[in-house]
Amino acid sequence: MKIGILVGMENTFPPALIEKINGMNAGVTAEYVKIGGVRQDDACEYRVIFDRISHEIPFYRSYLKHAALNGTIIVNNPFWWSADEKFFGYSLATKLGLAIPKTVLLPQKAYIKGVTDASLRNLEYPIDWDGILADVGLPAFLKPHDGGGWKDVYKVSSKEELWNAYDQTGTLAMTLQQFVDFTLYTRCYCVGRKEVLVMPYDPKTRSYIPRDQYELPRELEDRMIRDTILINEALGYDLNTVEFAVQDGIPYAIDFTNPAPDADLWSVTEPYHNWVVEAVSRMLVDYAVNGAPTARYHRWNKWLHPENDETTLHITGAANVAHSASKAISAVIDEISKPVKPKRTRKAATGELKKPAAKKAK
Ligand SMILES: Nc1ncnc2c1ncn2[C@@H]1O[C@H](COP(=O)(O)OP(=O)(O)O)[C@@H](O)[C@H]1O
Ligand SMILES: [Mg+2]
Repeated sequence: MKIGILVGMENTFPPALIEKINGMNAGVTAEYVKIGGVRQDDACEYRVIFDRISHEIPFYRSYLKHAALNGTIIVNNPFWWSADEKFFGYSLATKLGLAIPKTVLLPQKAYIKGVTDASLRNLEYPIDWDGILADVGLPAFLKPHDGGGWKDVYKVSSKEELWNAYDQTGTLAMTLQQFVDFTLYTRCYCVGRKEVLVMPYDPKTRSYIPRDQYELPRELEDRMIRDTILINEALGYDLNTVEFAVQDGIPYAIDFTNPAPDADLWSVTEPYHNWVVEAVSRMLVDYAVNGAPTARYHRWNKWLHPENDETTLHITGAANVAHSASKAISAVIDEISKPVKPKRTRKAATGELKKPAAKKAK
């Protein structure tokens, strides 16, 4: 069984993983994925693919969706990774009861070529800046609704600064977020939705602080661990980081859609790097041996494998797929044509029982 690793320019984390997994002698080997043109009926030779870079290479993202269709377990799920963004995360986490700073999604400053006023008739104009600022307060953070790597993040202290920053954001959809005047800041790895490492971090120097040199109250750390697992259970990521900014003892989650989090030896420092290499290697090997295909989460899977329960998937070729699909369609047609019995027969006004009407086939 093989685990394939898809990488960008990082050069400490992926080789450390490959060495670790290959040294585990668990009947699973790890290697870098090699691909060229991908045919639509190609099978995928990997049981698991660990993706570190498809957010920058659309060809890889498309290949990963194809691999998922063919039964491979993809970390992280490329469909969700394509669909999620920061603002959705803030809304979801708010509903889950996490502490999230007040955040407002803003209409874009500019639009792609070809979009004219006629295309924008649903937009309120002008934007109610005063109302938004009254909610969020000042200072505030203006940052992309779907960002990463600290790009296009602005701290603004007045309406004028906000407008100046907003004017530079072009076609990006931005959010305006309440400033958290934090006294503590942590970045938490979450692996397999169950293992969490809380790393104290100093955003001012952009450096990690050794765990034993940082005062972090036990209950606060427990809450961070609990919130991290909850958000990852909800979003469905196998590897992610959650960043908390702590003000008045409350850990506000401010950044938690990071499906390819930095794990480089030279940036996260050796103890944290080693932890994540260990935990991710164990997770990937466990998924290879015991895991269920990423396909199980998707509607199309039941059309391909109606005979399987949701946690299994065996693809043995195009003919099998076509056969399964046609069986699924027949089953659905049968279902539609079956008369439907109402749960309870209603008593008619005459006192007689009314016969349930048969549902017509479409
Ligand atoms: N609401 C906020 N309050 C205080 N600081 C913030 C807030 N949002 C972002 N920051 C600061 O800006 C940095 C980058 O923002 P973040 O949301 O983490 O974006 P990215 O995904 O680019 O890392 C954070 O590490 C933090 O230092
Ligand atoms: Mg961040």
